[in-house]
Amino acid sequence: MRRFCLILTLCLPVCMMAQQETLRETVGNYFHIGCAVNSSIVQATDSKANELVRTQFNSIVAENCMKAEHLSPREGEWNWAEADAFVAFGEANHMQIIGHCLVWHSQTAEWMFRDKNGKEVSREVLIQRMRWYIRTVVGRYKGHIAGWDVCNESFEDDGTRRQSPWQRIIGDDYIELAYRFAHEADPDAELYYNDYSMSVPAKYNAVCEMVKSLKAKGLRIDAVGMQSHNGLTWPKLVEYDRAIDAIAATGVKVIISELDMNVLPNPDSFSGAEVSQQFEYSAKMDPYANGIDKRTQDLFGERWQAFFYLYRHHCHQIARVTFWAVGDADSWLNDWPIPGRHAHATLFDRDYNPKPFLKEIIKMYK
Ligand code: XIL
Repeated sequence: MRRFCLILTLCLPVCMMAQQETLRETVGNYFHIGCAVNSSIVQATDSKANELVRTQFNSIVAENCMKAEHLSPREGEWNWAEADAFVAFGEANHMQIIGHCLVWHSQTAEWMFRDKNGKEVSREVLIQRMRWYIRTVVGRYKGHIAGWDVCNESFEDDGTRRQSPWQRIIGDDYIELAYRFAHEADPDAELYYNDYSMSVPAKYNAVCEMVKSLKAKGLRIDAVGMQSHNGLTWPKLVEYDRAIDAIAATGVKVIISELDMNVLPNPDSFSGAEVSQQFEYSAKMDPYANGIDKRTQDLFGERWQAFFYLYRHHCHQIARVTFWAVGDADSWLNDWPIPGRHAHATLFDRDYNPKPFLKEIIKMYK
């Protein structure tokens, strides 16, 4: 018995430490900590990633399965299986579940904007379709989804409205209509606005004005998502820091909604995170195919720590930090904007082992 007690006394702190050393039990004390998941993770075909999601995170967002082209690829046709499985996975693991995204210019099937003869529909028809689409999707998951990215990427980096089919056909008020319809469909769900390049002043100022105008009209908006597809040298931390304050000053929370850090080179004409950008593969553009060198890894680790230091500093304004992948292996940056590369963009390597600096981040939040 005495020997048993001795073993327990020696082992317990070690076990407890091991248990505490997860993101959800340290960083998760400051804000929700999440990741985007794909269907192989949900179905556990990717079992290591599945385990990591369950142990490290307390929030998940659908990487693709809740986008309009997946849910409704053709008029009148609905594919619920993957989205249902995503929600069931989140509920089985007691996680905060985020829906992404309702109104976007990308990954929305063409039928939404066209009639049977291929002609663009009228404002009235598109408003009706938007209302019906949002009601159907948000209504189906009413009470199960904590919050929705309602409008995604409605602004250009210069602060003007993106000329998406939604904007062209409906006009400026499509944004407020989207928030109105989402709130009607699930009054308890939080509603977010989400965009990239959110540390560019012209862009975040335009988004802040939009938030104020929604609020002035009595519409619900709970948070703004800064996607944060970051690089080693951009955004500048000081600009990113100012953007967080500016957004929070409008009275909504800030969400770091699609966090990753790209170390791969990109062509000069590349910018932002517009998903349609695509360039040809060349070995020169894939310099870390056999692993990342020590110097870049160190820079990468320091920069990750700097971001997490900033998030902790702003924790009263930040509701959630969500990575746009679980580990390097499932990052969209393997195929965007150049297909077939080897991304090193997250806190977990291609075998889902933690990178050396993860323990520093955890230490910072203990
Ligand atoms: C990306 C997914 O990760 C990819 O798998 C897909 O091919 C394209 O879309 N901004 C967003 C996300 O809001 O929905 C995008 O996700 C990445 C950029």
